Amino acid sequence: MSNDNRYYRLAVLPGDGIGAEVIDEALRVLKAAAVCFEIEFDAANYLVGGAALDAGEDVLPHATLEACLASDAVLLGAVGGPRWDNLPADNRPERALLWLRKELGVYANLRPVVVSPEMALSSPLRPEFVDGTDLMVVRELIGGIYFGESSVSRDDAGVVQKAGNTMSYTREEVRRVARTAFEVAVRRSGKVTSVDKANVLDVSRLWRDAVTEVHREEYPEMKLEHLYIDNAAMQLVRRPTQFDVILTANLFGDILSDLSATLVGSLGMLPSASIGGRAGLFEPVHGSAPDIAGEGKANPAGAILSAAMMLDVLGEAEAASSIRRSVAAVLQKGIRTADMQGDGVPATTVEFGAAVAGELAATGGSRNGHSKTAAEASSHS
Ligand code: IPM
Ligand code: MN
Repeated sequence: MSNDNRYYRLAVLPGDGIGAEVIDEALRVLKAAAVCFEIEFDAANYLVGGAALDAGEDVLPHATLEACLASDAVLLGAVGGPRWDNLPADNRPERALLWLRKELGVYANLRPVVVSPEMALSSPLRPEFVDGTDLMVVRELIGGIYFGESSVSRDDAGVVQKAGNTMSYTREEVRRVARTAFEVAVRRSGKVTSVDKANVLDVSRLWRDAVTEVHREEYPEMKLEHLYIDNAAMQLVRRPTQFDVILTANLFGDILSDLSATLVGSLGMLPSASIGGRAGLFEPVHGSAPDIAGEGKANPAGAILSAAMMLDVLGEAEAASSIRRSVAAVLQKGIRTADMQGDGVPATTVEFGAAVAGELAATGGSRNGHSKTAAEASSHS
């Protein structure tokens, strides 16, 4: 443990649905890590999404955006819910998230999927096929079809008769996220699988060409393979252990990352880090889950592990590892929320978070596992 005093400004955006509950637990665990590792956080909460609308503000209030741009990192829960589903596109909570990602400039979204033996038992897939999976989805986050041209034409009665969205990328947009994927692969087994639809789409042919170019020019020692998105989806459930780094476009990455949740048994387990911009954005992969909001059933592991990814990116690798170790230890003890199949009474959101914080406080500073370097940031133990 280092004795330097380190200080970080966090913008905390709980958002909607289960967002607030899981973020509370992430903050509880961060606080335990801060004590153990002598880190100081200045964390302030800001409104986003439906919560902001309910308070009479825009989906992404100016104060929230300014705070995020001025922070060292942004920790976000989730946005959206049925109450706001019928609002015009620009006012939907999801819009706030896309806008925030764009404003921060976080073009690379890292979504690790690591399956330990006890998690394999929670997977709906055969445990012997998913056990040992350790992959990282690198999803392009601020381009592609999410941000391309869109059009909506209505008839005289105002009914939409035609609508379209365009998937387009510039060569440079592909090259920069490809570089991120190769950099991640350098710290892992060195293999990148780029996923596209180059048999049909021009945008995917550009994608494939630009990725191949970066590989040849800058990372010739890495292994690069290309898969079509349909085949990649099948391979991901058929033999997930064949993957190391999966590099793909915004929409394809959105779909593959939810699909990969079947490997760990629950979407609630998965964290993410969005990097490359002014400040990193850290959020669980799961959404706002309005059906269970406020019931204490949400799995806070995705949010807690997102906080660990945040610490890694901030250069606090030891604290990050200790959080991951603590989550693993708690799962090993059989403490699980309801989404993770297990024996016995499921833990509540708070019980799970408190168990992780307790584990960390008891063992965190002791460095009983191996600690990783900041460069291994986006990886896991
Ligand atoms: C995700 C979510 C978002 C996305 C939504 C809420 C806009 O599904 O982070 O995966 O599609 O990017
Ligand atoms: Mn998604």
